[in-house]
Amino acid sequence: MKDEVQSPEERSAGLKGMGCSRKRVEDVRFTQGKGNYVDDIKLDGMLTGDFVRSPYAHARIKSIDTEAALAVPGVLAVLTAKDLEPLGLHWMPTLAGDKQMVLADGKVLFQGQEVAYVVATDRYAAADGVAAVEVDYEDLPVVTDPFKAMDPDAPVLREDLAGQTEGAHGPRRHHNHIFTWEQGDRAATEAVLAEADVVAEEMVYYHRTHPMPLETCGCVASMDKVTGKLTLWGTFQAPHAVRTVASLISGIAEHNIRVISPDIGGGFGNKVGVYPGYVCSIVASIVTGKPVKWVESRMDNLMSTAFARDYWMQGKIAATKEGKITGLWCHTTADHGGFDACADPTKFPAGFMNICTGSYDIPVAYLAVDGVYTNKAPGGVAYRCSFRVTEAAYFIERMIEVLAIKLNMDAAELRRINFIRKDQFPYQSALGWEYDSGDYHTAWEKALNAVGYDALRREQAARLEAFKRGETRKLIGIGLTHFTEIVGAGPVKNCDILGLGMFDSCEIRIHPTGSAIARLGTISQGQGHATTFAQIIASEIGIPADDITLEEGDTDTAPYGLGTYGSRSTPVAGAATAMAARKIRAKAQMIAAYLLEVHDDDVEFDVDRFVVKGAPERFKTMKEIAFASYNQAIPGVEPGLEAVSYYDPPNMTYPFGAYICVMEIDVDTGEHEVRSFYALDDCGTRINPMIIEGQVHGGATEGYAIAMGQEIAYDDMGNHKTATLMDFFVPTAWETPHYTTDFTVTPSPHHPIGAKGVGESPNVGSVPCFSNAVHDAFRPFGLVQSHMPHDHWRIWKIAEDLGLHG
Ligand code: CDP
Repeated sequence: MKDEVQSPEERSAGLKGMGCSRKRVEDVRFTQGKGNYVDDIKLDGMLTGDFVRSPYAHARIKSIDTEAALAVPGVLAVLTAKDLEPLGLHWMPTLAGDKQMVLADGKVLFQGQEVAYVVATDRYAAADGVAAVEVDYEDLPVVTDPFKAMDPDAPVLREDLAGQTEGAHGPRRHHNHIFTWEQGDRAATEAVLAEADVVAEEMVYYHRTHPMPLETCGCVASMDKVTGKLTLWGTFQAPHAVRTVASLISGIAEHNIRVISPDIGGGFGNKVGVYPGYVCSIVASIVTGKPVKWVESRMDNLMSTAFARDYWMQGKIAATKEGKITGLWCHTTADHGGFDACADPTKFPAGFMNICTGSYDIPVAYLAVDGVYTNKAPGGVAYRCSFRVTEAAYFIERMIEVLAIKLNMDAAELRRINFIRKDQFPYQSALGWEYDSGDYHTAWEKALNAVGYDALRREQAARLEAFKRGETRKLIGIGLTHFTEIVGAGPVKNCDILGLGMFDSCEIRIHPTGSAIARLGTISQGQGHATTFAQIIASEIGIPADDITLEEGDTDTAPYGLGTYGSRSTPVAGAATAMAARKIRAKAQMIAAYLLEVHDDDVEFDVDRFVVKGAPERFKTMKEIAFASYNQAIPGVEPGLEAVSYYDPPNMTYPFGAYICVMEIDVDTGEHEVRSFYALDDCGTRINPMIIEGQVHGGATEGYAIAMGQEIAYDDMGNHKTATLMDFFVPTAWETPHYTTDFTVTPSPHHPIGAKGVGESPNVGSVPCFSNAVHDAFRPFGLVQSHMPHDHWRIWKIAEDLGLHG
């Protein structure tokens, strides 16, 4: 009777529930190479599709000759826009209310655009077919600069929109203009700026980059002509939404489409949207009656699938002489490329850019965003962030530094003066959000103390003097950031994508022997959902996490959900999981009371059992209750023990963090060394501290890449300059800094278990932190703003421009 002698603490530990650093159950297969990714799928008679892509950024297509390609052994078909037109599939709707060519229809708008789709018996034949397609292009003037795109005589990029003065998000005021989105009080903000003691003004550019998941995008489409059922395996971050969109676009009834996301090798927002490859593969499977696989190459992925950022943010920040911020103004020019394919909730064409007041109590603010077409790839996805939160955080954290320079103040102190105080939560921001909870001062003090901030500043000052005396060529930069996030879209009343409300779901079935399966509307791409969501259930109903299987990603079995991106899984599906578990617990209580022959109210939950109040020796374990639910006729209670919850969150969650980076910078070479990076995250209740730490390491490494070298760059002709990993910086273990992680816990008051998201926080917080460190090193020499990425050349150029090379 081991169970009888175990203390509640021992029983609780045995569950491996919330708060436990449970090892990732996924890693058993991942570390043994047993993952099952899209490219691992092999079906009888499966064909391969590949794209002919445009070498031009802007060109008219005079003709496409497919004859030679069709003669290549193994090539079965070559699809062009003309073939898709009769089906109404040559264009497709984007998530942002625009439309996008599936295959080039008359012209191309960016280098790498899909022009024709070759279907062949294998990958090699498809590649030979692609090479044999002859396309006659007439090149057109190229615009890669969003400001030049708005010149009156700029070339017309979207001829299909000619004469359209209304777009999906209101009036268009120029042929390359997409929308203007305004938030906040313009008049009040301008009045504050006019009267302020101090106004700091700066253009902050967050360059174009790319999520670059290790696994590229791909799918396998298989149309069964006998059953009329289409099965689509793919790298989808939102499989249910893909099913609905596929049904709407193709006209195939939704119950006849099964979408399966198998293992996914990273998504980071890149796998949210719908790409031409999916549409063409479905058409090809319907036409040939065979399964068709399409998997991108690395270059395809970097050139044509969704980019991130590319925001030019003109800011003004007003303050008193003492440093109290009185107002914030921001005008953003957003480069959306050839089509507006941003992945944002419908009502937010610039995502959550209106969280740009950050962690600060700013009485008035105004934000305007202008979306603009250019000859670049479409996208605008949340690269490990919640719909433009990253841009917002970078903007405000740079503006704070710029203001500190203007006020000649210490930037840590300036933040301290302006933080929203703990007693102000729930806090109504000037741009319309209600922050749920926070304790920024505590986190900030903990962070400053942990790194020994004052001593660091003294060391920095001493180094500066040594530099001036010619004793060293290395400066020290101290990067500070305090970020506030907004994650967990819904609520449905505010957030939908293509009309689909952003709730999420969980269904739990307890088996007779007391183990369980849970299915969710989300899909892990490496975040470890199978590990952590089982922990929520374990704590809520007292079944060991090891006895719970978790499934996601199959629309035939999982309840409808909006998927995984923007750190929404824990705030939304995690809440659904807790709520479904609580329904099971409520039913279990009735069963336990019946078995113990007492009233429902006379039993209480105790870790893994219900006990009779005041008589702890009388209890029924969850295992016993599960069995009874299947084998006893309990009056008034249905057999079985299962529940489903569709959770519409009442608000988003607002995780936050305090990050501090110490960087050594070699003025002569532009090289840098991250001496230390301290990351304090507050994501409310922590489900699995080890997974959180892993999320922070991964996100901060992506942030390091973005800040210090990673970019999608084009030349003036629209040639993509960074389409391989020779040019697109992805840190290896060698470059990756060492991180020190820390935390505070400020639970979300409206989330059933108090948890907030964390996956994206380190990307959001680390980019300004690394960037601020670079700027801080050169602050004594007058540097105010220098655009990312801070690669060696750009850092060298800062020093050169400041006259530090003698
Ligand atoms: O939506 P996504 O999974 O990308 O992000 P998330 O909800 O922030 O969760 C990332 C991972 O961290 C998941 O495995 C979560 O369960 C885990 N997590 C946690 O252990 N505790 C939290 N408070 C938040 C997330």
